[in-house]
Amino acid sequence: MSSLQVDVAGVRLKNPTMLASGMVGETGGSLLSVAAAGAGALVTKSIGMEPRNGYGNPTLVELEDGYVNAMGLPGPGIDDFRTEMEVAKNGNVPIIGSIFASSAKDFALLSSKMEEYGASAVELNLSCPHAHGYGMEMGIDPEVVSAIVKECKDSVSIPVFAKLTPNTHRLVEVGRAVEKAGGDAVVAINTLKAMAISVEFRRPVLSNRFGGLSGPAVKPVGLRCVFDLYAALEIPVIGVGGIETWRDALEYIMAGASAVQIGSAIGRRGIGVFSEITTGLERYVEQDRCGNIQGLVGVAHEHA
Ligand SMILES: Cc1cc2nc3c(=O)[nH]c(=O)nc-3n(C[C@H](O)[C@H](O)[C@H](O)COP(=O)(O)O)c2cc1C
Repeated sequence: MSSLQVDVAGVRLKNPTMLASGMVGETGGSLLSVAAAGAGALVTKSIGMEPRNGYGNPTLVELEDGYVNAMGLPGPGIDDFRTEMEVAKNGNVPIIGSIFASSAKDFALLSSKMEEYGASAVELNLSCPHAHGYGMEMGIDPEVVSAIVKECKDSVSIPVFAKLTPNTHRLVEVGRAVEKAGGDAVVAINTLKAMAISVEFRRPVLSNRFGGLSGPAVKPVGLRCVFDLYAALEIPVIGVGGIETWRDALEYIMAGASAVQIGSAIGRRGIGVFSEITTGLERYVEQDRCGNIQGLVGVAHEHA
């Protein structure tokens, strides 16, 4: 067994890096290029019931240490996504189908479609901070989250992951609701609700006014969320938020992440981040003689 191989709720990855939902991952071709770059798994762009255009421009603001985006969940609907999945499967790495919906019934329908298309797991987007009627608006309520997870679990036999929002003081309660409802893993974090103002135009920059902050600026928040969830739950935690280097990935793993997702770093550093991170992790495991990266999950709790 390779020193970087991990098992996340029954999904076996050759290394613990995954493409995070959204930066790329809307087409089969873009998913394939991330597979070729060495990612251990691919999370698709969040897909809904119907095609959506998303918000008007501007949808992204670049900051020194991250992005604020409000894309508005653009993308093909689930029916057209079948062909993208067919292409992406040629990458031979597990694909996790990210989905968004406004009801438990639609989440369950989308989950079944993703399973039918060959996804190894589904990731429920319960955390987008800027799409009205979706995401975080549902994901801050443990009862709503529980009903959605239960309905999805009843509809599919692949693992169900729930992606959580940091924009709540009830994060751990929501995580417990996922676990109690039978969810197989939690993913933390989605973006932090944020905005940018143009001094020149004296108005919010994003057409939607509010968006989500990602990149290195959110890493300490993501780490804290993963640390808290790992301490409270038995199911695996997948860490995401500001990971750009193998050290960032290792911080998340030591906080309790069984695997990590990478989004903004692809835009800021390029697709080479996957191999840079896995090479660094491999070297660390070898020098530390700890055998396997899985042995490092949550070690920071021993000193907490
Ligand atoms: C442009 C952009 C689009 C995103 N779209 C999605 C999405 O469709 N679904 C989702 O769950 N998260 C989405 N995210 C959030 C990321 O998956 C990730 O949770 C967040 O950006 C923090 O990770 P990062 O700092 O590595 O980007 C998006 C992020 C960005 C920057």
